[in-house]
Amino acid sequence: MWGTGAIYDHGAQLVEWTPAGHPGVLFLSRHARFEPGSAIRGGVPIVLPWFGAGLSGDRTPAHGFARLSTWQLVAEHADAGGDAEVAYTLSSDEPRLRADYRVILGRDLRVRLTVENTGDESVRFEEALHTYLAVGDATRINLTGLDGAEYLDQAAPGGLVRARQQGDVSITSEVDRIYDSTAAVTIVDPSLQRTIEVSKRGSASTIVWNPWREKAAALADFGDDEWRRMVCVESGNVRDAAVTLVPGQRHTLEVLISVCATVC
Ligand code: BG6
Repeated sequence: MWGTGAIYDHGAQLVEWTPAGHPGVLFLSRHARFEPGSAIRGGVPIVLPWFGAGLSGDRTPAHGFARLSTWQLVAEHADAGGDAEVAYTLSSDEPRLRADYRVILGRDLRVRLTVENTGDESVRFEEALHTYLAVGDATRINLTGLDGAEYLDQAAPGGLVRARQQGDVSITSEVDRIYDSTAAVTIVDPSLQRTIEVSKRGSASTIVWNPWREKAAALADFGDDEWRRMVCVESGNVRDAAVTLVPGQRHTLEVLISVCATVC
């Protein structure tokens, strides 16, 4: 048996993936809301078809409607190797898109989001698999894989600033960055004595987010102290990397998460 997991039709949102022998790999807030109209704080929210306030800067709800929608479950089964596979679909009229989402839970976690333009005009959209990862102490983790990447700093005091990553990423204050990167990111967590690797395909943006103390205290569905227990390493295509699809065209974003003891 590979372990345990849980997914909700609401947002097609995976909230638990616990491979045997490890503490849960996904962070879920103890204050998460499970109700219509709310996004679930934790797990893997699907950000679609816009990120934040979108390309125009005035879109609501934040991060798009997909994480607030009830997705249709189209398949669930265990494959020959014992991995659990779940598939969901969601269609929207504005913009005209269909999203197919496949989750494979096993010793590794695979999530695959395919978006198809079902209309008769080109569509430009943003997307992200907003993975909340559980860590022992965010102030002690190191994120490798982003050295040299350019990023947009969304937490800079004077507003948005572009910068270049030097070395590993560590969390010593609020971090909210959109990296231009297709690379895998490894989270080295000495407190839980494990590493989590997030690798991806079809993604030109990596978003790293930790709200730190002040923002955590301001979030109603997040414990004041929970910022220490999580980091989001999100894989997507946002802002300049938004995806354009002509009618009938599809795009697939895929994320693979694997975990192992620190020495692996
Ligand atoms: C991240 C954004 O992806 O999501 C942050 O970069 C944002 O700016 C965070 O604060 C959480 O967003 P929300 O809408 O779930 O509170």
